[in-house]
Amino acid sequence: MKRILIATEKPFAPAAIKKMSKVFKKAELKVDLLEKYSSKQDLLDAVSKADAAIIRSDKFDAEVLNAAKKLKIVVRAGAGYDNVDLATATKNGVVVMNTPGQNANAVAELAVGLAIFGIRELFSGKPGGELRNRTLGLHGFGFVARNVFRIARAMGMKVIVYTRYSKDAAAAIGLKVVHSLEELYKKSDVISIHVPARDEHIKSVSADVLKHGRNGSIIVNTARKEVINEPDLVKMMEEKPGIKYMSDVTPDCAAEFAEKFEGRYFFTPKKAGAQTAEANLNAGVAAAEQIVDFFETGNIACKVN
Ligand code: 3PG
Repeated sequence: MKRILIATEKPFAPAAIKKMSKVFKKAELKVDLLEKYSSKQDLLDAVSKADAAIIRSDKFDAEVLNAAKKLKIVVRAGAGYDNVDLATATKNGVVVMNTPGQNANAVAELAVGLAIFGIRELFSGKPGGELRNRTLGLHGFGFVARNVFRIARAMGMKVIVYTRYSKDAAAAIGLKVVHSLEELYKKSDVISIHVPARDEHIKSVSADVLKHGRNGSIIVNTARKEVINEPDLVKMMEEKPGIKYMSDVTPDCAAEFAEKFEGRYFFTPKKAGAQTAEANLNAGVAAAEQIVDFFETGNIACKVN
């Protein structure tokens, strides 16, 4: 019987595990659950017996992939797969998949929540502002951004977008596509970042872009800290004292923020965007079904390597 490892340092909601286990039981696959592990050795031991694995932000680097002698497939239950060493996976013949869109609404709701928290001065009692009639700039137009758009439009925001790969999709729903990141930052009261931590997006939010940002704007980052050039962000926040930075996950320069920018930032202590029962259920069950389908029919539709 094939063994499926669910390795999550940040566990799925119990309802998700229950439904995923049902999917695997029906397909006669055995589940090994490794949750809240604190040592890499635990992961190395567990993965050595696995034919397939489901992970979240858990790091599948070369050491883990090389220890996974029987592994055929790893599914990242979520969107970003920057935690998986794709080159080693490919070299070892391991299929890597994600579950596109499955946790997008959860992340989008957090993005909007962070924007509200920012414009309301972190609920400190200081008078704040409202999102209605302000301009939201979407940096990227994937599944999360599309959900942010839906919510922001319902709240009466004007929405513009900068995207290289989804221009037609944006234009098709009447969304104004701007020509450059600089223009996006110049025109937006709130900027919400939705690009993956790879290729040209790494450190793409740099001084070149940030210098066009409005003093008073709120930058919401529910993507990855790697897409921001942190020293440039710090410099820009020093120069423009009205800018706020709201981020899902703490940046490396958090100590500098604490020292210099009180009341102008918020960081979730642990990545929280997809941390809802619904997102866990959607992404977890999709991952389980993709593994069953892979073993039963060879379907590799969500392969990313
Ligand atoms: C994703 O890439 O899907 C999100 O960042 C969620 O990550 P998580 O599963 O670690 O919460």
